[in-house]
Amino acid sequence: MRNAFARTPGERRTPPRRGIAASLASIGLLLAACQGGGSGASASGGGGDGGEAGNYPEDQITFIVPFSAGGPTDTVTRLVAEPMAAELGVEIVVQNVEGAGGTVAAEQVANEEPDGYQVLMHHIGMSTAPTLYPDLPYDPLEDFETVGLVTEVPMTIVGSPNFEPNTFEELVAYVGDNLDTVTYANAGIGAASQLCGLLFEEATGLDVTEVPYEGTGPALDDLLGDQVDFMCDQTTNTTENILSGAVKAYAVTTPERIDALPDVPTTEEAGVPDLQVSVWHGLYVPAGTPAEIVERLNAALKVALQDQNVIDSLADLGTAPVPQDRATPEAHTQHLSDQIELWAPIIEASGVTAG
Ligand code: MLT
Repeated sequence: MRNAFARTPGERRTPPRRGIAASLASIGLLLAACQGGGSGASASGGGGDGGEAGNYPEDQITFIVPFSAGGPTDTVTRLVAEPMAAELGVEIVVQNVEGAGGTVAAEQVANEEPDGYQVLMHHIGMSTAPTLYPDLPYDPLEDFETVGLVTEVPMTIVGSPNFEPNTFEELVAYVGDNLDTVTYANAGIGAASQLCGLLFEEATGLDVTEVPYEGTGPALDDLLGDQVDFMCDQTTNTTENILSGAVKAYAVTTPERIDALPDVPTTEEAGVPDLQVSVWHGLYVPAGTPAEIVERLNAALKVALQDQNVIDSLADLGTAPVPQDRATPEAHTQHLSDQIELWAPIIEASGVTAG
């Protein structure tokens, strides 16, 4: 399956790690390491006993976010990075590497040194890109080690403050009557917002004009300013604006209504039960990263997902950490594989491709 993307060992196109990091536009949030109390908070990362991990982590770690700062992937990353930094006893720098629906960042990390210092936070786009991009320069299953799943986030279909429709039914009718002028914001081919838009088109039979951004952070800003009409985005980006009335909410893409947004109907209630998607997130390091390093990152992830601030913050944003038994490399790999299989025929049937 998709062997065309695979590279043989030794073909890794590896730029110097520090050099490429320095050349990227980044917003670089430094998360101060917790230095006291607890076996995992020393600069040596808790005093490992050698092996392939050596004293990992000795240096700061960079978490690469494949979309814009201030968006939903960025929000989830920063939430879990803080307790992970404390647990690992190092700084974690969060860097946004936008472009091509998340594939620019994934390609970069696939080509980094397999030393655990460059960690990718990606979402469902990791499983849709192989079908959407005929020339994808990496294989999600072959070119990475999975660290663990992080969270699954519902999506919401939202409209700009002055967009005419007030309900999902009105939205479908209005879009159908105004196809030449209505605009739909997304974060490019491979983004969750693009996938949700594709499902919207499939469910309604409407072909909407897309306006791509480098993340739904800036897309939401334009939606709030009435510069685009509607979008589908994760609750981690939309909940506060829905609750404050700053955007119109038409539906949530889960089988049940969610606690954070009890007044927003489900897509099933709105009459489009096939429009269901949750955006799962996971952490990745380059293929060949020693198992002991993956284990250290995974152990820190598991601690972070039990952190009360992470749990409370995600609950406020309509979601939750995955259970501990899903925050494992094995569960993550299985889920990634299953999702590649799930989305491939749906995307192929749509005819959408980045090629
Ligand atoms: C997406 O649409 O994939 C995300 O919302 C992108 C982002 O995190 O900005």
